[in-house]
Amino acid sequence: MGDHRSVQPLLVMLLLLMLLTRLSQLWAFPFSPSLELDVTPRTTIFSKGLLGSARFTGSSQNYSTLLLEEEAGLLYVGGRGTLYALSTANISTPVNLKIDWEASPEQRKQCLNKGRNNQTECYNHIRFLQRYNETHLYVCGTNAFRPLCAYIDAERFNFSSGFEEGRDRCPYDPAKGYTGLLVDGEMFTASQYEFRSSTDIRRNFPFPTLRTEEAPTRWLLEADFVGSVLLKESVNSSIGDDDKIYFFFTERSQEQFAYPSQTKVSRVARVCKTDWGGQRTLQKKWTTFLKARMVCSVPEYELHFNILRDVFVLQGQNAQSSIFFGVFGLEWKNIKASAICQYAFSDIHKVFEGPYLEVQESKWREYTGKVPEPRPGSCITDLHRSQGINSSRDLPDNVLTFARRHPLMANQVQPVGMRPLMFKRSVNYVKIAVHKEPALDGNIYTVLFLGTDDGWLHRAVDIDGEMHIIEELQMFDKQQPIESMVISSAQRSIYVGSHSGLVQVPMSTCQRYTSCYNCVFARDPFCGWDGRVCVEISLRAQRSNLTQDIRRGIRGCKENSGNVIHRRRAVMSGDDVLLQCELRSNLATPRWTLNGKELQGYGLNSGYRIGTDGLLIIGARTQQSGLYRCFAVENSVSVLVYLYTVKVHTDPYFPAEPTVTTNPTMSSSPTVFSTSSPTEESLSSPPAPLPPGAEFQTYRHMEAVYISLVAILGGLCLVLTVVLLYVSFCTRRAAQSRKFSQQGLQVLGASERKRSSHFELKTISSHYNGRQGRRSISVPTFGDISDSFFQIVPGDGQMSPDKTPPPAPPLPMPPPLPNMDYANGLSATLPSVLRKMNGNSYVLLRQADAEGMSPLYHSFTEELNRILEKRKHTQLDLQPDESSI
Ligand SMILES: *[C@@H]1O[C@H](CO)[C@@H](O)[C@H](O)[C@H]1NC(C)=O
Ligand SMILES: *[C@@H]1O[C@H](CO)[C@@H](O)[C@H](O)[C@H]1NC(C)=O
Ligand SMILES: *[C@@H]1O[C@H](CO)[C@@H](O)[C@H](O)[C@H]1NC(C)=O
Ligand SMILES: *[C@@H]1O[C@H](CO)[C@@H](O)[C@H](O)[C@H]1NC(C)=O
Ligand SMILES: *[C@@H]1O[C@H](CO)[C@@H](O)[C@H](O)[C@H]1NC(C)=O
Repeated sequence: MGDHRSVQPLLVMLLLLMLLTRLSQLWAFPFSPSLELDVTPRTTIFSKGLLGSARFTGSSQNYSTLLLEEEAGLLYVGGRGTLYALSTANISTPVNLKIDWEASPEQRKQCLNKGRNNQTECYNHIRFLQRYNETHLYVCGTNAFRPLCAYIDAERFNFSSGFEEGRDRCPYDPAKGYTGLLVDGEMFTASQYEFRSSTDIRRNFPFPTLRTEEAPTRWLLEADFVGSVLLKESVNSSIGDDDKIYFFFTERSQEQFAYPSQTKVSRVARVCKTDWGGQRTLQKKWTTFLKARMVCSVPEYELHFNILRDVFVLQGQNAQSSIFFGVFGLEWKNIKASAICQYAFSDIHKVFEGPYLEVQESKWREYTGKVPEPRPGSCITDLHRSQGINSSRDLPDNVLTFARRHPLMANQVQPVGMRPLMFKRSVNYVKIAVHKEPALDGNIYTVLFLGTDDGWLHRAVDIDGEMHIIEELQMFDKQQPIESMVISSAQRSIYVGSHSGLVQVPMSTCQRYTSCYNCVFARDPFCGWDGRVCVEISLRAQRSNLTQDIRRGIRGCKENSGNVIHRRRAVMSGDDVLLQCELRSNLATPRWTLNGKELQGYGLNSGYRIGTDGLLIIGARTQQSGLYRCFAVENSVSVLVYLYTVKVHTDPYFPAEPTVTTNPTMSSSPTVFSTSSPTEESLSSPPAPLPPGAEFQTYRHMEAVYISLVAILGGLCLVLTVVLLYVSFCTRRAAQSRKFSQQGLQVLGASERKRSSHFELKTISSHYNGRQGRRSISVPTFGDISDSFFQIVPGDGQMSPDKTPPPAPPLPMPPPLPNMDYANGLSATLPSVLRKMNGNSYVLLRQADAEGMSPLYHSFTEELNRILEKRKHTQLDLQPDESSI
């Protein structure tokens, strides 16, 4: 502990700098936010802990195309060079239904000769797999850059005929954005098909094939397609409307608008199903093509999500009640952030019925002149038929000429509520599926399943317009993007595909919640507490005895029905003691009492430090003996989880320091804390006896450590000065960027006010590995610093095996204390600051060059965390920087 004091002046300086930095920011940005949209997943489940899951890994890779047929109980899968038909009940059950469809060796050779990548591109990637008719499926593959398509006899699961040319139907490039639909024997696709061709929406068959127009107005500009959907608007239509196909994509923006820095826009386009093209004008072109911009912005932050990554259309009772969900990202690849926006069909419809844009003096402006009749871009309805216009070929020339020049609508499609349903920092969602689930309160809740670019699935529920992420589930051990996702309401399963395989997980796993509080706090619409266990409510006919509280996650549990773990600790005075208190929920905060009295002020001099992993008693004093209780506080309810009886001994035989646990030379020893609930051993094993004879070496080592420590601290001060300068620079930025920063920082302020300061790393999900974690916290402005200065290391409680603990000084063995475990719970880990983040894993914050960690280091971990947190926030601050270019 003396180690602490010797460097206190430096520490004080450090804190002062931190404070100054913080103050200057607050002074510059005195606004308060109106809401917090960033959501932390309540629990984190690693792949080993998945319950009721099934996996499928065939001989191939890239399980990118899925076709679910619920009635048949089959999941058709298009992998690289192979097709499978799997049982939806359990995709692990061995399959005999498999088609090998590799690109021929000659074709692969040609592909290589074209300079293509023989590891990824020169294969047959299945891009299209859909039902053609009652007996057949239709499939297209890239076939090593020479696309082919074929019919599959679904019954026998083999090719029923020869291959067809796929050039106009399927892109050459396996990574190109692509979407397609088979509707009543007609094939609609959208992509950039060939290397140099422009992007196009096509009807491939029946004849004539239809395309989008290129001149004088290009209808699509480098469009990247993510999805398409058929809405049967003809059904029960009072006006004899046609069915329509909607396409979703991001393209280079043609029009000028409020955010000049952005080059791309998200769009929805639509065509009528029975479009036949024009007679003279728009021959073999769509006569009904219209597109509109989809907006997904957080207005207060001036944050505009313009890259559409995926869509899910939740079809309602009729086409008009459909809801569109979009997953959006930002244009800058180095920023991880996602937003989910929800659009009502009626809003999209209104925009397509609204004014058009037109190029005037090479700028897109709203067209205010007369619109010809029938309205360009509308489908043929009974009204038209009564006027003798039976198909698009009967449309007058002036209508078609207008349609050709006016593909873009003036109004933008705004999301429901004019804002994202959800906004998430540091996470890239790439896939979405949506399910509606009735809960006990009689409401039907919207549950979102969100796949990330690093192989996780988030389960989120919309509670009165606010998203609550019930859990995050790791689908694949190896980090990889979710490539495909389908949801089966019949099986109550989600099927998730990636590069390496397929996973089937149940929509919910209520048995994971082992106590009433857990079950109720989870706010999981699928789950209810029956007094004994947490059950799927859909499986219970008798539901009156079930407890659930989706709205608030509070009601229904009796006082302390949770299981309390009781431990004893006997420690030497002067030791540092860690009382572990692991909280399963990332949303819970710990509360500690000593002998029934609230422990307060965990400041530097209080002798206590509280973390997400437990309570640290620094330099235990005898008066700190007593009964410690750890409560998990969630949704304002305190639940007792741990009980510690701590006895601090003063034993003349044993000097208070240096002890095993505070010795700096031990600091880098990679003691691993259990990531699950702490086991008896990890808590109570006594410190191992240390090998004698290493004393001298150790002191030299310590000297070196101290010197490097001082150097590091100096460096830190320097860095902070830089930060300070940077921040003051920031204050002088353009008005727009300033406004954004204000709000960004105020969110930080607000969240701090709400949470205890020890939870600042909250929104960094624990599952990030080192590389990603670093990326997620680094900002160009700070990037270099963060890389060289400190880093987040994989948080599984594992450390790299190449690190061996340095020799420790000899210490006499303490005499055994009767009926007490002699342990401080710290092992030798603390100084190396293994920190737990988000309740499930430990993260080691370490200085890149510091081999031996200083015992002092843990005392400013909090401060370091604060820097990390600040960076995480400044991350988004980047946007205005880029936008002012
Ligand atoms: C699926 O089948 C496999 C093997 O047949 C079995 O091990 C697994 O438990 C099953 N999973 C489920 C969720 O039924
Ligand atoms: C792919 O190319 C690399 C080097 O260009 C070569 O070593 C390898 O054998 C090729 N693999 C295949 C499957 O052709
Ligand atoms: C489905 O399409 C295939 C391929 O064109 C054809 O051979 C088959 O007869 C069709 N089946 C039905 C029931 O129309
Ligand atoms: C449209 O269809 C009606 C009835 O089917 C027919 O009488 C009429 O001549 C058609 N009009 C044109 C322009 O083809
Ligand atoms: C296919 O999977 C490999 C990894 O197994 C990956 O590198 C590649 O990018 C994937 N290709 C596509 C088109 O997704």
